[in-house]
Amino acid sequence: MSEQLCALYPHFSERVSLCGLYLAHRLQRQGGAETPFVYANFLSSLDGRIAIEDSGQNTPPYIPKHITTASDFSLFMELHAQADCLITHGGYMRALSEQRLGNILQVNKADLAEWRRSNGLKAQPAVIIASASLEFPMHASLSEHRQQVYIATGKKADAGRVRQWQEQGYPVLFSGEQQMVQGQALIGQLKKLGYRSIYLIAGPKMLDTMVRERQLSRLYLTLTHQLIGGLDFRTLLTGPALAGQGDMILKSLYYQQDTPAGSGQFFLQFDL
Ligand SMILES: NC(=O)c1ccc[n+]([C@@H]2O[C@H](COP(=O)([O-])OP(=O)(O)OC[C@H]3O[C@@H](n4cnc5c(N)ncnc54)[C@H](OP(=O)(O)O)[C@@H]3O)[C@@H](O)[C@H]2O)c1
Repeated sequence: MSEQLCALYPHFSERVSLCGLYLAHRLQRQGGAETPFVYANFLSSLDGRIAIEDSGQNTPPYIPKHITTASDFSLFMELHAQADCLITHGGYMRALSEQRLGNILQVNKADLAEWRRSNGLKAQPAVIIASASLEFPMHASLSEHRQQVYIATGKKADAGRVRQWQEQGYPVLFSGEQQMVQGQALIGQLKKLGYRSIYLIAGPKMLDTMVRERQLSRLYLTLTHQLIGGLDFRTLLTGPALAGQGDMILKSLYYQQDTPAGSGQFFLQFDL
């Protein structure tokens, strides 16, 4: 794997180191007490797919292995390291317990852990689990790392399940009028709790509510130079047409040649 990128925008540079590229953004200092900095990161194919499904199999969607790269994951973790709070969801907790997905709830790499220490962040971020169903297992690693965990749901979520989580000691944030979490209500509550750099590691539904309600500050997008097809697929957003909330300004663009092998990828950064 080439650890060098070519910077294309805003300034051209033939060789830029991948390592530390996103850490240099100092996201933990971008937000303030009044306006937390909310950011997300997605990997998409050229034909706009972030996950595909095996048609007629009734199995969960998945990210095809051949579009993932170690360089994309290392930048994902650099973004992760700068968060004081992660937003994930019930679907991820189910996938984690069934070992369909790996654990990304903690910062484990020694250099990133050290970076957090020297930049005044707690050893591990707080974790928000958004869920309408409230049916998911908790993961032991959260208590092992003494992470603050909140469950976010809507006011019309099942009262019995809300009580079950509260009785187990998990604070429940009511962040939506129905069963679903809404972006503005959730970020308002996280602001009151004092979180400033909030990393959305959720999928298209949570991205949709954040963008639709103008709560996303920045989108990082890795665009792999691959067409992947697939009859059933997921793309970045799920909801009805937007009316300008999704307009973005390109802040930077990097190119990595021959990664994945035989192709390449762009690393894009957009502000909203
Ligand atoms: N390529 C990429 O960068 C990328 C990034 C993210 C995800 N993906 C992939 O895309 C596919 C779908 O993504 P996903 O499963 O992460 O996300 P998703 O389909 O958007 O959401 C899954 C679950 O999140 C909870 N949820 C989402 N929005 C909510 C809201 N507003 N309020 C309350 N709960 C909410 C629900 O949990 P409950 O059922 O518990 O209510 C829902 O079942 C997966 O295959 C995933 O691996 C790809």
